[in-house]
Amino acid sequence: MNDKYGRILVAGSTGYLGMHIVKELVEKKCDFKALARSTGKLTEMGVDEDKIIHARVTRADSLQGCCDGIDVVISCLGITRQKDGLKYMDVDYQANLNLLEEAERAGVKKFIYISAFNAQNLQHIRILKAKEKFAARLLASEKLTPCVIRPNGFFVDMKEFYIMAKSGKVFLLGKGDVKLNPIHGEDLAKYCIRAILKEGQEYDVGGPEVLSEDEIAKLAFSALKKEEKISHFPDWIRRVILFFSRYLPEKKTGPAEFFLSAMAQDMIAPIYGTKKLGEYFKDLARRERALAQKAKNKGETPDSGA
Ligand SMILES: NC(=O)c1ccc[n+]([C@@H]2O[C@H](COP(=O)([O-])OP(=O)(O)OC[C@H]3O[C@@H](n4cnc5c(N)ncnc54)[C@H](OP(=O)(O)O)[C@@H]3O)[C@@H](O)[C@H]2O)c1
Repeated sequence: MNDKYGRILVAGSTGYLGMHIVKELVEKKCDFKALARSTGKLTEMGVDEDKIIHARVTRADSLQGCCDGIDVVISCLGITRQKDGLKYMDVDYQANLNLLEEAERAGVKKFIYISAFNAQNLQHIRILKAKEKFAARLLASEKLTPCVIRPNGFFVDMKEFYIMAKSGKVFLLGKGDVKLNPIHGEDLAKYCIRAILKEGQEYDVGGPEVLSEDEIAKLAFSALKKEEKISHFPDWIRRVILFFSRYLPEKKTGPAEFFLSAMAQDMIAPIYGTKKLGEYFKDLARRERALAQKAKNKGETPDSGA
C-alpha cells in the first residue's frame, strides 16, 4: 500500500475526471474511497465494492461519516451535462459545501476542489459563479488546508469538434483563431494527486499543446481521414446567442453559456502533461472502427459508444 498520500476520498468519482483519478489511485496502490450516488461505473472498471461509499451529496444527512478516517478529499463534483433538474448552485456550490462541512467536522487535513480555468474572471457565467462561490468558502476554511485547481477544457469536451467533423463539416463562430490548451483526464488526474503533496492553495493548469479552434478541427478531420471542411460564422452570432442564453433556464443553456463565453478569448493555462489531442481523436476513431467491425461481424447495426 502506498501511504505517502494518506487516505483519499474522491467525490464525483463516476465522472470523466473522477474516474481517471480513481484509475490513477488504483495504479499507484493508494488508500482511497470513492463517493458515488450509483456504483455501476466504478464496479465495471474493477473498483472493489468496499472502496465505494454510496451517498447523495445534495443531502447533507446522507454524507454523515463519509469523511471519518479520511486525510484528503478530492472533489470533481459538478454539473456538466447531468439532467437532474438541479441548478449549479445546488450541486457545484451546495453539494460541495455539504461535503466540505462534513470534511471539516471529521478532521480531514486537505480538501482539493476542481473549479475551471479563468473562473474568477468570468463570474457572470452561472456555472462559474457557483464554482467560485464554493472556491471562496473553501479558501477561507480555517479547519483544513484548501486547494483549488482551475483546469482548462478537458479532451472529452473537444469531442464536439470530432462529432462535427464526423458529420462532414465543422462549424465555428468567429475566425477559428481563439487558442486554448485542453488537457486529458489522465494528465489532470496525475496533477490533482500531485497537488496532495504540494503547498500551494490555487493552481491553473492546461495541457501540453496550445491549439486554435481551426487546428483542433483539423486534428479531428485528420483522425477520421476526412477532407477538411470548416465554416466560419461571424462572431456577432456567438454574442447574440450568449446574450439570450443568459435569460433562459440554465438547465437548457448553461453549458452553451459556458462554452460560448470561453470561446471569446484565448484561454492558455500553465502547461502540464504529455497527452496529445490528435492521438485522443485517433483513439476515438480506432474504437469506433473496431465497434463497427464487431457489429458487422455479428450482422448488427453499429452503435458507437466511443
Ligand atoms: N469538462 C471540462 O472541460 C471542464 C473544464 C474545467 C473544469 N471542469 C470541472 O471539473 C469537474 C469534473 O468535470 P467532469 O468532466 O469530470 O464532470 P462529469 O463527468 O460530469 O462528472 C461530474 C461528477 O459529479 C457528479 N454529480 C453531478 N451532479 C450530481 C448530483 N446531483 N448528485 C450527485 N452527484 C452528481 C456526477 O455523478 P453521476 O456520474 O452520478 O452523474 C459525476 O461523478 C466539474 O466540476 C467540471 O465543472 C470541467
